[in-house]
Amino acid sequence: GPGVVVAIDGPSGSGKSSTARGAAKVRELRYLDTGAMYRAFTWWALRNGVDTADPAAVAAVVSRPAIVMGMDPSDPTVRVDGTDVAQDIRSQEVTENVSAVSAVPEVRARLVALQRDLIAEARSEAGGIVVEGRDITTVVAPEAEVKIYLTASAEARAERRSKEVRSSDIAATQADLMRRDLFDSSRSDSPLTQTEDALELETTGLSLDEVIALVAKLT
Ligand code: C5P
Repeated sequence: GPGVVVAIDGPSGSGKSSTARGAAKVRELRYLDTGAMYRAFTWWALRNGVDTADPAAVAAVVSRPAIVMGMDPSDPTVRVDGTDVAQDIRSQEVTENVSAVSAVPEVRARLVALQRDLIAEARSEAGGIVVEGRDITTVVAPEAEVKIYLTASAEARAERRSKEVRSSDIAATQADLMRRDLFDSSRSDSPLTQTEDALELETTGLSLDEVIALVAKLT
């Protein structure tokens, strides 16, 4: 039969990626990190001298890079025009520019279309998929069988993210998370929003394994 879609949204540092990936492994589903797609496009724009603060300049090049996602949760990959960018898209420069780029409607239209194609493919060929981002439950896959809104306190999110990026400056990390969350929640196109029909999972104080087990159980 048709596969299942698990949609997970939440703010930066809520543990979406690790949780979605872990749950996809447990349930043997595909895995899609949509934030990596916005980061990949932003990486390409920066590399090609596009002014990321100028929405018209960003919109003008929206279809230029080929973005290819590998959806195996044991080895997820991101390629831009054939180049593996998995490491480079985590750079500070990309992180600082990605929210402005992802607020451009033309960018969202292209990447959402791509995401829907990948979801349809996983539904028909692989038993289903766990997809995470900011607008998955609301825009990309509102028809998802399982919808989850993942949260954690600002302190817990900053602490987790600091470990991820190996930074000892938790205050600076928290400031960056707050800036991005405010931007992502207040943009006019597809803002991060918590909807009534998504199950809220508050993960402060829970270990990653505990959260993965919870999500896998819901799936
Ligand atoms: O999840 P991650 O922090 O890697 O996402 C990077 C940025 O990409 C977010 O801050 C947000 O601006 C954007 N994004 C988005 N919609 C998504 C996923 C990510 O706008 N579905």
